[in-house]
Amino acid sequence: MTVLGVVGAGTMGAGIAQLGAAAGMRTLLHDPDADALTRGTENVRRGLAKWVEKGRIEGDAAALLEPVSALDDLAPCELVIEAAPEKADLKRDLFGALSMVCGDDVVLATNTSSIPVTSLASAAARPENVVGMHFFNPPPLMPLLEVIRADQTADGALARAEQVGRAMGKEVIVAADGPGFLVNRCGRPFNGEGLRLLQERMATHEQIDRICRLGGGFRMGPFELMDLVGIDVGFAVAQSFEELSFGEPRWRPNPIQARMVAAGRLGRKSGRGYYEYAEDGSYRPEDPEPPEIGGGDGLALSLLGDGPLADGLRERARTAGYELREGGPAELIVDAGVHPELALPGAATPPLPGGAPTLVLCAASSLAARGEPGAVGFHLLPPLDEAELVELTRLPTTQSFACEAAERFFASVGFATEWVEDAPGLVLGRIVSQLVNEAAFAIGEGVGSSEDVDTGLTKGLSHPRGPIAWSEAAGLEHVTAVLDALWNERREERYRTAPLLRRAATLSRGLR
Ligand SMILES: NC(=O)c1ccc[n+]([C@@H]2O[C@H](COP(=O)([O-])OP(=O)(O)OC[C@H]3O[C@@H](n4cnc5c(N)ncnc54)[C@H](O)[C@@H]3O)[C@@H](O)[C@H]2O)c1
Repeated sequence: MTVLGVVGAGTMGAGIAQLGAAAGMRTLLHDPDADALTRGTENVRRGLAKWVEKGRIEGDAAALLEPVSALDDLAPCELVIEAAPEKADLKRDLFGALSMVCGDDVVLATNTSSIPVTSLASAAARPENVVGMHFFNPPPLMPLLEVIRADQTADGALARAEQVGRAMGKEVIVAADGPGFLVNRCGRPFNGEGLRLLQERMATHEQIDRICRLGGGFRMGPFELMDLVGIDVGFAVAQSFEELSFGEPRWRPNPIQARMVAAGRLGRKSGRGYYEYAEDGSYRPEDPEPPEIGGGDGLALSLLGDGPLADGLRERARTAGYELREGGPAELIVDAGVHPELALPGAATPPLPGGAPTLVLCAASSLAARGEPGAVGFHLLPPLDEAELVELTRLPTTQSFACEAAERFFASVGFATEWVEDAPGLVLGRIVSQLVNEAAFAIGEGVGSSEDVDTGLTKGLSHPRGPIAWSEAAGLEHVTAVLDALWNERREERYRTAPLLRRAATLSRGLR
């Protein structure tokens, strides 16, 4: 029988000990704080009892759990998972002490989410036996385990961590050591680009969250998520990314975070963050149902462009009862083509026919840069059957009849609408393109595989699909067009395209 040690009986440690005992391992749970040990042990027993009740596990797994008050009691362990507070010095001391207490073959794992595992391994007597085992909160429920290979980690230690993770019922992915490992690194643009959009006043935080939920199928938008995690916690993570990467522009913390922390608006836990929380925890209205498809009434529609977005819109327009025109006069013109060439400096598309309200996709340029002063801009991302909302934008020169035509058209093809300010990709396009870009940087730098990125973000962060799946649903051309346009219009380092993404797009290959 495997003997597992868990150090720290808090939120994570208790959850990990529950997984160990449930998997049939003799599990020694240690915490130097007697009260914390008692509380943690009770939490594990309660969790196990619930699983027995539900029939998830058999027998008396609780008998495998042994609370121990001294670190020395961990001597018989084959694997020790450390889940002590997130302080580098404290963890380094623990790794030194555990090296003395346990046998030569013990594998020492850390559940740190931000301290380089390589630096903790250096504090152990046998650094090759140190790995990261990054569980997600709450460990008994979250299906993912991210195993981290430090620079010193030997294959055998990595294999033992993976094997124990699988025995605990987890889907295991492997990441190289580095800021945020694979999952938190690839998930960073969700909050980071969200904050940048708010800073630019592209939309309000409520709108950005609604667009992510209804347009992208995310369970929560970035601001409700930051409120849930704690804005101070998120700010500290952002600072650690910047520090560990020596100032990578994509990972710079946002001044909004610093101001929120300074104001004591820390999120749900302080009753106020980006949202205000009522006593019952409510903070926003329910999302509306998308409108029913229909009402095209034979209106002559010219729908231009090809690719998954244009094809999907064409299909919906047909269902809604529009008369689709290949050429000749139309009563509404919708250009849903990506036009990647527009993202290049000095490029222009031939002007659209005119004479009717005109809607243009803002992917490879902002509406302002597109050169259609009377048009309405829009953006949405395939897969369309999972999107319920389209974003719209206008210029000072856009007339209200065009805006009304845009709202009517998108309602008739089944989308709610949200008016935002103007930029390539509008809100969701920017967030998703940056998620794909970060994944491409991480894969290109050897942090993990494309399969593991998608598994990590869907299973660890509950994203509706991983960045690679997004790039396939929307098309690499669409994603790179948004990034190129942002770079072209702004010349900001944070929008530079990952080398792997550029190569995949140039060679018309996928990211897998
Ligand atoms: N909470 C999360 O969402 C989450 C997710 C992933 C990883 N992590 C990481 O897991 C680790 C633990 O986080 P947590 O949320 O469970 O914290 P926690 O505060 O709930 O628990 C920490 C426990 O460690 C104990 N402790 C204090 N000093 C100790 C020492 N010297 N030796 C052993 N135990 C000691 C404390 O008494 C406490 O019970 C941290 O490294 C954290 O970054 C947390």
